[in-house]
Parts: sequence; C-alpha cells; structure tokens
Amino acid sequence: MKSGLASVCLLYGLLVAQPAWSGLDIDQYLPPQETDLSPEEQRQQREAVQRQIEEARQREAQRAQKAEQARQAEAERLAARPYPVRLTEKRCLTCHSINNLEENPQTRLGWELTVLRMDWFQGAQLERGDRKVLAQYLATTYPARGLRSYLEYLLLGLALFLPVFAGYQLRQRHQKMKN
Ligand code: HEC
Repeated sequence: MKSGLASVCLLYGLLVAQPAWSGLDIDQYLPPQETDLSPEEQRQQREAVQRQIEEARQREAQRAQKAEQARQAEAERLAARPYPVRLTEKRCLTCHSINNLEENPQTRLGWELTVLRMDWFQGAQLERGDRKVLAQYLATTYPARGLRSYLEYLLLGLALFLPVFAGYQLRQRHQKMKN
C-alpha cells in the first residue's frame, strides 16, 4: 500500500511537476524524427515547401489586387454614368426596382406628377431642381407613346374635371332647395 502511493507520487512528479518546473514544452520531449534523407535532401525539401508557401502567398496577393482593381473599375463606371441616371438611382431606386419605372411609361406631365407625388406623399427626398431633371430624364427614357399617352391625358382630365363637375352639381342642388 505504501509503495503504491510512493510510485503514484513518483509518476506524477516525473510526468507533470518536473517538466512544468523545468519550463520545457512537450515538443522537446519528442524523439527527433527518423528520416532517411540526407541533410542536403532535407534542406531541399524544406526549400520546396517554403517555395510553395511563397507561391500561394503571391497568388493570394494577386487575387486580392485583381479584386480591388475590379471594385475600383466598377465604382468608376458607376460614377461616370450621366447625372440624371445617378440621380434617379439615388432618389427613386432606394424604394423601387428599375422594372417599376419601365412598367409605368408616362408622358412628361405624368412623370412630373409622379415625381411630385413621390416627393410630397412618399418621402422621396428631393432637393431643389431635382424634379425637373428627374421628370425630363424619365419622360425621355420611359415615355408613354400613342394610345397610352392619350389614355393618360384622358384620366388626368377626368381627375380634374370630376371634382369641378361634382361641385357644380352640389351648388345647383343647393340653389334649387333655396328657391
Ligand atoms: C420612400 C420610398 C419611395 C421613393 C424614394 C420613391 N417612391 Fe415611388 N412609390 C412609393 C410607394 C409607397 C408607391 C405606391 C403608392 C403610390 O403610388 O403613391 C410608389 C409608387 C410609384 C409609382 C407608381 C407605380 C406603382 O408601382 O405603384 C411610380 C411610377 C413611382 N413610384 C416612381 C417613383 C419615382 C420616379 C421616384 C423618384 C423620384 C420614386 N418613385 C421614389 C415609394 C417611393
């Protein structure tokens, strides 16, 4: 019993306490790797691995450089587009996709009113002069032609005429009741 405890203590001392106390790490306990390569061959092997690492590092640097160049070229291309295109993107395409504009071709008047509606009621944040630029650009890029433009004027005409007509009718009725 006594010798059992002693050997446990000895083992603990050898395996844990002593290495820790001497400040060595586990790698230094490993036996040197057995190899049948000559020192010259070992050196060549090490150099080959280092070359591979260096090549991989260069490839990665080139890839990063290319990606950065592509990013810059794209940023330049975007910045070089005409002013109205950029303005539309900034003021309108935050809420809409470009399809939304394509699918709603309108006359100049229609676009003026749409841009005004977006400005007043939908919170498109326009600055002075934006509306004119936007309406002009949109009307030339997504114009309503032929029947569609007549329909637009017809609807606008009705939208203006109906309240006037209703007001007139009400007034007539009012006067009839007075008489
Ligand atoms: C803050 C979000 C917002 C911005 C910015 C905005 N819109 Fe709108 N837009 C809306 C909403 C919401 C509607 C639907 C209600 C309506 O028609 O008033 C709408 C409707 C429209 C419609 C009618 C077609 C449809 O799908 O209903 C057109 C066309 C349109 N917008 C164009 C524009 C243009 C051009 C601009 C830039 C000047 C713009 N919008 C900016 C929110 C926005």
